[in-house]
Amino acid sequence: MPIYQSATYAHPALGISSGYDYSRLQNPTKHELEMVVNRLEHGDDALAFSTGMAATTLLFELFKPGDTLLVSDDLYGGTIRFFTHLLAPRGIQCIAIDTTDIHTVEAALNDSITAIFLETPTNPLMRTSDIKSISELAHQQQTLVIVDNTFLTPYYQNPLDLGADFVIHSATKYLGGHNDTLAGFIVSKHPSFSQRLRFLAKTTGSGLAPFDSWLILRGIKTLAIRMRQASENAEAIFQYLKHHHAIKHIFYLGDPDHPGYSVHCAQARGHGAMLSFEVDQEARAAHLLSHLQLIAFAESLGGVETLITYPITQTHADVDPLILEKNGINRRFLRLSVCIEHVDDLIDDLKQALESFDAL
Ligand SMILES: Cc1ncc(COP(=O)(O)O)c(C=O)c1O
Repeated sequence: MPIYQSATYAHPALGISSGYDYSRLQNPTKHELEMVVNRLEHGDDALAFSTGMAATTLLFELFKPGDTLLVSDDLYGGTIRFFTHLLAPRGIQCIAIDTTDIHTVEAALNDSITAIFLETPTNPLMRTSDIKSISELAHQQQTLVIVDNTFLTPYYQNPLDLGADFVIHSATKYLGGHNDTLAGFIVSKHPSFSQRLRFLAKTTGSGLAPFDSWLILRGIKTLAIRMRQASENAEAIFQYLKHHHAIKHIFYLGDPDHPGYSVHCAQARGHGAMLSFEVDQEARAAHLLSHLQLIAFAESLGGVETLITYPITQTHADVDPLILEKNGINRRFLRLSVCIEHVDDLIDDLKQALESFDAL
């Protein structure tokens, strides 16, 4: 697919169009990308945005002051910032609950809840919520279900098939896959919402640019092979870290002792390549961040380079410290986005950084 680096399109005559008018509405490269993502997520329509947060922000234009939403109590920090600092002052209340527990969801649901917003797995605690059971309960109350599918991607999980009404993505991550651009998606299951979302996207103008659309299309061509290799590497790193004396806790979906393991296995085709862990001391966490040589200390995830992130000062820096403390996101807590380098090199890098701390 070429890059149609064009803002506008000439019309042959009055009333005759090439199908494209102006790139804020649509562009051939972006159109192709949206069709690809829509097919992958089994939706009615997919819309591409300049970032994952632009997608989330646009989706919430569907809601109005007075609406109340239930949201997972562990989420990407930028999404929490959006709920707290932008939605709440607009009169849209987001109530954080433990969506991993179906009874908690059932007790919190009533006909005044407009939507439920889930990440499954969550960022960074890898908590799993049962999309099918939650959707069944939600739909009894006419409540919509939104799932952020960034971590598993449609290669491993299709929330719309499990009953969700909308999927959102930070395509900056696995879909793009190369840490070289930002993008986001909303995939909608219902034609009536798709039409409204197209109108809102055209009106607000945060759609993805042609060159970035092309980069995401290029990334998706290797999504399957990258997901498989990264997941295989993550499993090996989990096995290595699990037996290390300095690792106190690992949060990884492929761990049969993970409390959400059976729910996760029933709704996804793989465990993905994200894992978080807690080390024994804050000083060890700091040492790891400055002594890893192959693994980069950086925000983001899902590209071809393995990254280690320190949520407390990076992805979750703006989250209420009380929430962080409750969730155990402390100064010993690290998140690893395992990617596709040779797994021996990744393990060697972790080993040398952990051992050089022990040698101090
Ligand atoms: C799960 C999740 N959703 C949404 C976002 C926001 O995406 P973006 O950074 O592309 O705006 C992120 C970013 O890290 C994320 O991890």
